[in-house]
Amino acid sequence: MRLAHCSDLHLLSLDGARALDFASKRWIGGMNLLTNRGRHYHTEAFEDMVEDLNASGVDHLVCTGDVTNLALEQEFRFARARFDKLTLGPSGVTVLPGNHDAYVDAGRAYFTTVFADYCTTDPGWEWSDGDPSPWPLVRVRGAVAIIGLSTSHQTPWFTAYGRAGERQLDRLAAALADHRLRGLCRVVAIHHPPAGRRAESVIRGFRDRERFAAILAEHGAELVVHGHEHRDLRVTLPTPTGTVDILGVPSGTYEASRPEKTARYRIFEIEDGKVISHHLRVWHRDRRIFERDDHEPAARAASA
Ligand SMILES: [Fe+2]
Ligand SMILES: [Fe+2]
Repeated sequence: MRLAHCSDLHLLSLDGARALDFASKRWIGGMNLLTNRGRHYHTEAFEDMVEDLNASGVDHLVCTGDVTNLALEQEFRFARARFDKLTLGPSGVTVLPGNHDAYVDAGRAYFTTVFADYCTTDPGWEWSDGDPSPWPLVRVRGAVAIIGLSTSHQTPWFTAYGRAGERQLDRLAAALADHRLRGLCRVVAIHHPPAGRRAESVIRGFRDRERFAAILAEHGAELVVHGHEHRDLRVTLPTPTGTVDILGVPSGTYEASRPEKTARYRIFEIEDGKVISHHLRVWHRDRRIFERDDHEPAARAASA
């Protein structure tokens, strides 16, 4: 079983954006986008990634959010049209929202509507605790169980922190302890880094990191993947049987002056309920292809 992970695509389409859409918090993002982001995040990179994934025969793709920039409805439709070119189809691709997809409250609704079939939970895993929120989603694919959290809400200007909330974390604990997932490779997917120095940031971090760590310490997991920081990051958290890797991947569409951040995604090889290896595939813009990169940046992991 092979699982791919990408993140932070920030797919850009301002076609038809009404001036009104830039009111409120979007004004900051709009300015940022026009002055900087648009030059560094390339839709062609994701189009090339889709071709690479279609040729590679991976079994499932997880995208940990920030598919858009400003959470405009037309951005979600633009992004969805590109996801729809994946031959895996919506049941073979799991997409979570990031903070840019919840830039304003309306964005959360657009994500839920436009990406609905990329984030449905499996039958039998609907939550019955009286809270209508569907998160976290649970999707079992072969020997892999994906538990996907939603941590993004509209936050005050100049902030981008995440929060899962007590109810969602109660459900995470219940899923990890559920007998139906016994023996499977339990993969927790989340936009914000849930552990390490970056999770502690008041501005960009994860407010529920202490409870998250306590849940993993009690119930374990086989892998945690995240995005948000646009960097290769690795930290670990204790589990009942040892530790679990918490791996962040850089943006899937970035290309500018910093080669270590060039667009990439990761493939995990999974056997007998465990991750046995993983590697990166990195974009070569000049040739419009992704190629395997065996130089996993272990040195940078220490600074996570
Ligand atoms: Fe991002
Ligand atoms: Fe983010």
